[in-house]
Amino acid sequence: MQRALFSRSALLAQQAAAAAAALDGPLAARGAPMLQRLDRSMSSVTVPPPSCLLRPLEAPLRYLFGPGPSNVPPRVLAAQGRPIIGHLHPEMYEIMNDIKKGVQYIFQTENNMTIVMSGSGHAAMECAVFNTVEPGESVLVAINGIWGERVAEIAERMGANVHRMVKAPGGFFTNKEIEQAVEKHKPVLFFLTHGESSAGLCHPMDGVGDICRKHNCLLLVDTVASLGAAPIFMDKQNIDILYTGSQKALNAPPGTAPISFNDRACQKMFNRKTKPVSYLFDMTHLSNYWGCDGQPARIYHHTGPVSGFFALRESLAILSERGLEASWKKHKEVAAYLYRGLEDLGLKLFIPERDLRLPSVTTIAIPEGYEWRELLAYMMKHHQMEMTGGLGPSIGMVIRIGLMGYNCEKTNADMALHALADALKNCKKSRA
Ligand code: GLV
Repeated sequence: MQRALFSRSALLAQQAAAAAAALDGPLAARGAPMLQRLDRSMSSVTVPPPSCLLRPLEAPLRYLFGPGPSNVPPRVLAAQGRPIIGHLHPEMYEIMNDIKKGVQYIFQTENNMTIVMSGSGHAAMECAVFNTVEPGESVLVAINGIWGERVAEIAERMGANVHRMVKAPGGFFTNKEIEQAVEKHKPVLFFLTHGESSAGLCHPMDGVGDICRKHNCLLLVDTVASLGAAPIFMDKQNIDILYTGSQKALNAPPGTAPISFNDRACQKMFNRKTKPVSYLFDMTHLSNYWGCDGQPARIYHHTGPVSGFFALRESLAILSERGLEASWKKHKEVAAYLYRGLEDLGLKLFIPERDLRLPSVTTIAIPEGYEWRELLAYMMKHHQMEMTGGLGPSIGMVIRIGLMGYNCEKTNADMALHALADALKNCKKSRA
């Protein structure tokens, strides 16, 4: 039987250790209020130090079985805890070069213009739109959950002429529908979400890149929730711009976001008439910072998240050791195991077509008669376990269970099923 993420006794032991450390711990900090009271008359500051910061940090251990962030393996946490080096030191450039190779592997691309954003998946989303679209240009966005809504809003804010194709959460777009919309709106950019975490849908990708090529439009794909859990082939599938986030199946802490642009995308973004609206996300600077512009020297642009890059490098190393195909297979198997358990509990999977389900984030319809917030709160209180409700248009429609990366184990699926069964037994059926 496979190892659980952490056993209940390990969890309790770690909590007890943390509490003990807090008791014998930082005497200086606990003594500080007294010193401050004595010194107040001599102090030049009128705003006192906040008393909350004189208490030790508390971050409980939780089973993160929602759509992310997910629990991070000890190897990655240890990498993140290594001593800081300068963001422009040669060793850092080497780490960034390693990361770039890792991202090329997980995206299955040979694109030279492959970097990592200092920020969450939203940073990559904004970077993609800000650099490839100019004000007044047409952008087509497929919306079947929250991420299309976000991209449409971002593109509108920078002055694009946005066209929306909308389906209810859980819906998907046929290639015929996509081609008709591309023909009609003649966008410079078409956006599609591969892993729609708000609905638990994994969108089919084959043929979409060919349609975009045929109609001279760039294809931008969001794989934040799917990368590492479901197959995606950036080069083979003719995806022009692809991004992901660090905190889902990649298993690094939140805060870094890989993104890659192919030659078609570079052609468009480096031949624009106007400067991108964001300095921080301007690819002319970022491509130099990541050593992708062929210049002999990298010039200071911003201070990258050094520890976040250490963690990301380690998570990419783990995925490289394991292999993408093995990771896809594992996610599929554990998801199938979870589906069976959910059905045995009498629950209904939100996406009826098995092939369209996102293996990293499973959605169930809210069981009839239950208040979803009560079920989630019960599991948090009694099982220290996070699952979440819907997001954006799927709020009130689904409960989301994420078993990704490090958390993707059948034993964790058992724990999630046990917590759900307990919640169903103990929460009131208020709307029966
Ligand atoms: C965030 O990415 C979510 O799906 O909740």
